[in-house]
Amino acid sequence: MDAWWRRSVIYQVYVRSFADSDGDGIGDLPGVRSRLPYLRDLGVDALWINPFYPSPQADAGYDVADYRDVDPRFGTLADAEALIRDAHAHGLRVLFDLVPNHTSEEHPWFRAALAAPPGSRERARYLFRDGQGSLPPNNWQSAFGGRAWSRVADGQWYLHLFAPQQPDLDWTNDEVRAEFEAILRFWFDRGVDGFRIDVAHGLAKDPEMPDLGAGHAPSGPAATGHPHWDLDEVHDVYRAWRRISDGYPGDRTFVGEIWVADPARLARYLRPDELHTAFNFTFLLAPWDAKALRAAVDESIQALSAVGAPATWVLSNHDVVRHVTRYGGGAAGVRRARAAALLMLALPGGAYVYQGEELGLPEVEDLPDELREDPSFRRTRGAETGRDGCRVPLPWSGTAPPFGFGPGGAWLPQPAGWAELTADRQTGDPASMLSLYRAALRHRAALPALARGALTWLPAADGVLAFRRDPDFFCVVNAGERPAAAPSDLRRARLLLASGPVAGDGTLPPATAAWYVS
Ligand code: NOJ
Repeated sequence: MDAWWRRSVIYQVYVRSFADSDGDGIGDLPGVRSRLPYLRDLGVDALWINPFYPSPQADAGYDVADYRDVDPRFGTLADAEALIRDAHAHGLRVLFDLVPNHTSEEHPWFRAALAAPPGSRERARYLFRDGQGSLPPNNWQSAFGGRAWSRVADGQWYLHLFAPQQPDLDWTNDEVRAEFEAILRFWFDRGVDGFRIDVAHGLAKDPEMPDLGAGHAPSGPAATGHPHWDLDEVHDVYRAWRRISDGYPGDRTFVGEIWVADPARLARYLRPDELHTAFNFTFLLAPWDAKALRAAVDESIQALSAVGAPATWVLSNHDVVRHVTRYGGGAAGVRRARAAALLMLALPGGAYVYQGEELGLPEVEDLPDELREDPSFRRTRGAETGRDGCRVPLPWSGTAPPFGFGPGGAWLPQPAGWAELTADRQTGDPASMLSLYRAALRHRAALPALARGALTWLPAADGVLAFRRDPDFFCVVNAGERPAAAPSDLRRARLLLASGPVAGDGTLPPATAAWYVS
């Protein structure tokens, strides 16, 4: 049988915004445990849990001070162990989030580095360099805005590709490598099924540290020849990690967060002795347009199948504008998001569902500035509003905030209109987004064609995507502006599920997708 990670649907739990058990307005691990029945009933296969480790929260937990414990805001180590156990008891696997590119400035290693002199073993775990006179060592920029270097008291500079509170580690250092291998074992020994790897394309840096050239963006997909994104040396790290995961029973797995130039570069991380899967940002970045979506699907499948890796599909996560809003917002955005869900869940490979997309949540665009926490907001002086708008706590029940999120408030305000979008309200309403996701996931689990059938495109009108998953499943998506007749191959097929009303003769309105079996 295929390994589970080749075709699983993985639900992303953004802990601080999922469910709060203790009334401090911040979600926590006991909150996640209390909602496991919801996730089981939704029909996903696994969970990816965003970082919950001790952290000053300079970047919502992506600044880790201790990789082997749990921040008191989110619970205890015993809660993390209980979460793994309970999730398994509900038939759900669990991936944790590993942050290897940088630590927190409060990690004992960085504190020791600040206390030690230039040239010391303590500094050698990070990327400390002398500047050029009063200027930093080079022109590298932080992905959150501003320069990527900060100066310490003795005049040296340290590199941080993200916030200054996130110093980059030096991955040529043997101690760094050994430490992360030990961290992997620590959690594998506790039963975790795998890891999502943060900034997996960023660990290796050009040792000469040349200036960024024209065309080398500080963040976003890497162009070739970039001095700190997607260097060949990074692959060694993943070969070593794969040997570790392969030493454990039960198909432990890695999924990389890898922003690279194109699917061919992505595939290099998924060679048989490296990572298992990676997020497919080509699909996420594609506009709502049949040609663009089809090209993203084709390029991804082609590049990844060359290395024997499955594709994965993702529409939203905690770093991007929620796709209801990206696709135009309002009723049109919701219609497209419903159709996109049926497209994503019909494609071969795995899929990621970001918490709240199954409720059709839009981006919250009007948060008060003083409540925004994303460091990119302040580091760009508001030029970038940041990612808080996709991180607003989930509405579970009731008619007023915090909508059952927890016994206290919610760390970011939820719009009053979310009373219509609570999980309770949507349960049992056949027209709701939640019912659509539940039905799609139920069919996906039951249909062998969706587990392993090859994808064949069918002839279709302009603006329409139509494909078969062998032998008997069909998906049609009308991404165009006009109603589209059903492709002739579907005349004798039975309608299984649709994202909106479909005419008796199979005509699909715009922004509608349908699943058929023959
Ligand atoms: C990617 C994470 O998804 C994002 O939230 C974080 O800010 C950066 N990596 C830095 O760790």
